[in-house]
Amino acid sequence: MSNYHIKHLEEYYQVYRKSVRNPEAFWDEVAEEHFVWRKHWEKVLSYDFSKPDFKWFEGAKLNITENCIDRHLLTKGNETAIIFEPNNPDEVALHISYQELSNRVNKMANVLKSQGIRKGDRVCIYLPMIPELAVSVLACARIGAIHSVVFAGFSATALATRINDSDCKMVITSDGSYRGNKTIDLKGIVDDALRSCASVLSVLVAKRVHSKIPMIDGRDHWMQPLLDQASAKCDPEIMDAEDPLFILYTSGSTGKPKGMVHTTAGYMVYTAYTFKNVFQYKTGDIYWCTADIGWITGHSYIVYGPLANGATTVMFEGVPSYPDFGRFWQIVEKHKINQFYTAPTAIRALAKENIDFVNNYDLNSLKVLGSVGEPINEEAWHWYNENVGKRQCPIVDTWWQTETGGIMISPIPGSTPTIPTYATLPLPGIQPVLMGANGDELYENQVEGSLCIKFPWPSIARTIWGNHDRYRETYFAAYSGMYFTGDGATRDAVGNYRITGRIDDVIIVSGHNLGTAPIEDAVNEHPAVAESAIVGFPHDIKGNALYGYITLKEKGESLLQDNLRKEINQLIADRIGPIAKLDKVQFTNGLPKTRSGKIMRRILRKVACNELDNLGDTSTLLNPECVKHIIEGRL
Ligand code: PRX
Repeated sequence: MSNYHIKHLEEYYQVYRKSVRNPEAFWDEVAEEHFVWRKHWEKVLSYDFSKPDFKWFEGAKLNITENCIDRHLLTKGNETAIIFEPNNPDEVALHISYQELSNRVNKMANVLKSQGIRKGDRVCIYLPMIPELAVSVLACARIGAIHSVVFAGFSATALATRINDSDCKMVITSDGSYRGNKTIDLKGIVDDALRSCASVLSVLVAKRVHSKIPMIDGRDHWMQPLLDQASAKCDPEIMDAEDPLFILYTSGSTGKPKGMVHTTAGYMVYTAYTFKNVFQYKTGDIYWCTADIGWITGHSYIVYGPLANGATTVMFEGVPSYPDFGRFWQIVEKHKINQFYTAPTAIRALAKENIDFVNNYDLNSLKVLGSVGEPINEEAWHWYNENVGKRQCPIVDTWWQTETGGIMISPIPGSTPTIPTYATLPLPGIQPVLMGANGDELYENQVEGSLCIKFPWPSIARTIWGNHDRYRETYFAAYSGMYFTGDGATRDAVGNYRITGRIDDVIIVSGHNLGTAPIEDAVNEHPAVAESAIVGFPHDIKGNALYGYITLKEKGESLLQDNLRKEINQLIADRIGPIAKLDKVQFTNGLPKTRSGKIMRRILRKVACNELDNLGDTSTLLNPECVKHIIEGRL
């Protein structure tokens, strides 16, 4: 039996039981056998949920890039680490070998050093999906700098908030990016953001679109000339197991984004372990995750997890609809992809198009299909299974979060069964529980409750950057002695989990987590707006879309309201990014409030979802009369 690579059902149960009975012994064995360490740990785990405090492999010393790059050089230096597939299918794909990746990362690491970046400094990476993105991430890790990748679809304001929250010293960006038939001026967005970021001393700029852009003397540097001068040897910084590896921002239901902090050893062990098992990656396979490295899925399952296993991982710069809706399948055929990992929103969008876009391509290489980011509905699951997987490929519906660092609940292909819409069973080392309305654990099966995890796992986020109190309150205060996920779930008769969705004010739109509070803040900035409340409603492709209820300071004409809608959405795009725009905007003369003045979102949500039969008791509201007005004016 191997703890590291599960190959059949009985083995899953054996390994799972072992991992729960003695988690320390289990993870000790995995970490011992599959990674290179500069110094062995003294203790596998110490933890205290009440502080909360988690330490894995304490005392160990390592560098994650030695595990992701150096150790593969002898055996697979010439094999491909990263395939870069450009936005434009006519541009040639790049095959970057492990040796070349090593050279690039070492050079970039030396460039960072030459710009004054040291261990512990924060570096913001705001790049499109080009090789420089993966290389920059790994170069930071090489020298012990903490990377903070910000998805390059975020606005200047959102970027500045993230840069300032963790006092980044440097920003790495490009002269622009390609997305479908659009070219985006990324450097312009960085310039805007940096007007309010005093901590940034230098900006490295990669050339991608070759546009003429202003460079600020002394602050901005073209990346390539510096790389050309740099040595391809940079000794790795030797890190403690619990040294921070990166910060990644995720939306909360209130307040500013949370900078989740992941540390080195536990994150490495867990992402590598789960990559191997969930995708059943075998030597020679070509693996493709369509996510952006700006999200946790890209961190864990484009960069760290695959490279720690010596895999070949694809980075795709473009979008599924360019030049046409066959682009994903054309790439699968072209690179003979074996494992394909995407989001339900992409599946739903592609399922709406002509099936010839799929059938025109040879998808025979596929062995495993993955889904992540939101619940996958039954229709999308079957479409994926039948048309893409040809009923031959297990679908791994992987449930996890930015905070969990790696996949927590998922089928293991070839070992555990798949069930449409179910993430199914916990991976080894993961102990999910469901909590009932009265705060007690639900021990039986066939129940529904709040999903919590009652034992630490190696890649749990250790804190929120600069705000440990918020970390404790958000994840550890609701139920004592466990981690609260913010999701609801059901458990079937044999222990399979089905995630039902968020139970807080986070809305998942096209797989992106959006907190309602920051969007409301943006809307309320408009001089005509008195107040706003934003809720989600079901959407065919996006999963959920945003519905805004807005009261105005002065009642206006309907023509004016159309302009207002546009202006409000522009404000949202400026403050957060286009992904947070409202699909529906209803102007109303009041928002339903409790007697203590809190907006009753429950009622607004029901109206947005057209569930009018079951609005609940509205008589205790401060202003029950506004509900009628809201129902009459619903969109
Ligand atoms: O609500 C769950 C949903 O996405 C949330 C986490 O979002 P984020 O931190 O952006 O990470 C997304 C990628 C890991 C979860 O709280 N979610 C994620 N995967 C699934 C899911 N909901 C249902 N099924 C999934 N497979």
